[in-house]
Amino acid sequence: MRITSLEDYHQQYQKSIENPAAFWDKIAQNFYWQKKWDSVYEADFEKAKFSWFKGAELNITENCLDRHVRKNPDKIAFHWEPNNPSEDSINITYQELQDRVCRFSYVLHEKGIGKGDRVCLYMPMIPELVVAMLACARIGAVHSIVFAGFSSKALENRINDAQCKLLITANSFYRGSKLISLKEICDVALENTPTIENVIVYRRTIEITPMQEGRDTFWFDELSKAYKECDPAVMNAEDPLFILYTSGSTGKPKGVVHTCGGYMVGTTYSFENVFQVDENDVYWCTADIGWITGHSYIVYGPLAFGATSVLFEGVPTYPDYRRFWQIVQKYQVSHFYTAPTAIRMLAKQGEKYVDAESLTSLKILGTVGEPINEEAWEWYNEVIGQRKCPILDTWWQTETGAIMISALADVTPNKPTFATLPLPGVLPALMDEDGKEIVFNGKEIQGNLCIKNPWPSMARTIWSDHERFKKVYFSTYKGKYFTGDGALRDADGNYRITGRVDDIIIISGHNLSTAPIENAINEIEIVGESAIVGYPDDIKGNALYAFISLKEGTSDEESIKKAILEKISQDIGAIAKPSKIQIVEDLPKTRSGKIMRRILRKIAAGERDFGDTSTLLNPDVVEKIKAKAIS
Ligand code: PRX
Repeated sequence: MRITSLEDYHQQYQKSIENPAAFWDKIAQNFYWQKKWDSVYEADFEKAKFSWFKGAELNITENCLDRHVRKNPDKIAFHWEPNNPSEDSINITYQELQDRVCRFSYVLHEKGIGKGDRVCLYMPMIPELVVAMLACARIGAVHSIVFAGFSSKALENRINDAQCKLLITANSFYRGSKLISLKEICDVALENTPTIENVIVYRRTIEITPMQEGRDTFWFDELSKAYKECDPAVMNAEDPLFILYTSGSTGKPKGVVHTCGGYMVGTTYSFENVFQVDENDVYWCTADIGWITGHSYIVYGPLAFGATSVLFEGVPTYPDYRRFWQIVQKYQVSHFYTAPTAIRMLAKQGEKYVDAESLTSLKILGTVGEPINEEAWEWYNEVIGQRKCPILDTWWQTETGAIMISALADVTPNKPTFATLPLPGVLPALMDEDGKEIVFNGKEIQGNLCIKNPWPSMARTIWSDHERFKKVYFSTYKGKYFTGDGALRDADGNYRITGRVDDIIIISGHNLSTAPIENAINEIEIVGESAIVGYPDDIKGNALYAFISLKEGTSDEESIKKAILEKISQDIGAIAKPSKIQIVEDLPKTRSGKIMRRILRKIAAGERDFGDTSTLLNPDVVEKIKAKAIS
């Protein structure tokens, strides 16, 4: 499966495009299937229906666990590093992980969870999260992981959308120095989640947790009754493996559905080729498992490949800015994969926290989640990579399941701020405003990024809303998957992602849509209207600026701003809080009454030239807003 040279890459790429069925058939032979497929893939872009390895049967956990246990049971799957460095770290072998997964599978079974049932996981970055995910996959239940930074309302909405039967959580945990009372957040959500029958609570701290008799039980009490053996459920390649919610540009979050067979092949193939991990390497992806990066490149990809990874519970700033590099040294990390926002934040502290001695084990660096600016790229390359590590700028999405455009470590060349070349099996296209593909003419071209062919790890649908899936991804450009990103392609075929071209704003690598934030704000009694826009931020990449008009007769701006921040924390989560809130008399509108976000975006970015505003319904408000803009 491994591409070993630039020439090999070009050959493999060519093969994958000329005959995708033969190409992926061969790749898929490297996995353990209980039954092989009838067809490699079928695709209907019109209906947005895709299948990979149809007719095949497998269990992804046999590929992630059993087959490694048979060969190398004592290999470390995870070095778990707790939030607090004075607490003991834990090494978990493949054998131990398998035993724990099997025992917890039994617990799930005893709770009445079976194939196809949805289980919500709302947990910190502890080994039990991985155990719970894999136990779901083992018995064929569909996991829906909600990032433990989301609010109770967001949790409630996601549980209800997927109709989850079981919730698995922790009593509380520390993120840095902050105590997060997870179960209390759950309890608020649980008042409005009628489908939840049981709650399993992992006791991560000594904090007392209110438990509801008959519904809530502790993880350890459940496990004490469990057996170690659990045969893997036989899954069809196209059965759902998990649901993961991501922001929609309008309305409620989209429950992106990934299936068992294609996702396994796509994540493992990309993991092996992008990172080029060897037997004795130690790989560390710093993402949270609550996002797709954690699903694909902490859990499924590395485990199916058989890698040794670091799993970190904490944050880069606790106890201080040295933490990442101390962990690199402690485990002799060779492959380090993080987000540009973390790089910018650490770069801002200067070099006093980076001890070059601690970085000697590093061989490969990666980034994901947002465009990386030149300055951050250079710092990463010089200070962390000591100019000896390739930097893999990996472009992909929750919906793509696996990395789509990226350099392959030590195989294909790097270019600062460019994701570079598509992986085999990925055929990108850049589209113009009129919906036409921009023909490559030997010079740099720029447009909206689409993918022209199906690939194994692509999302199959949006949970219970296939129409929305079709509309969002497959109707803007006929016969193509539309990514929502803009990109340019240089004369050598390297891609650089320029950012979102829709209403989604990426803040510290988290996808946020402005519509639900505005909806939350508008529910506050005294708020008349609101408009949220993004503006560039040195560390977060983007930050949010809220323009708010109030109903008549309200004046205490400070308490209104406080109420807005509280409401957003409650409804969505702290990550959606605007950095700037400006109370305005009115919002600039077109004559048909639409808010002119283009102008607000310019004001937020500190620009002062708005072009002709005379066609606005209320041009005079622009000057007033500008005069009071927060810099
Ligand atoms: O805009 C792109 C940006 O993140 C979006 C996908 O976000 P999400 O589904 O949360 O997945 C993030 C982790 C894969 C993309 O549409 N993005 C992701 N990686 C990059 C990127 N933008 C630029 N460069 C990247 N390497």
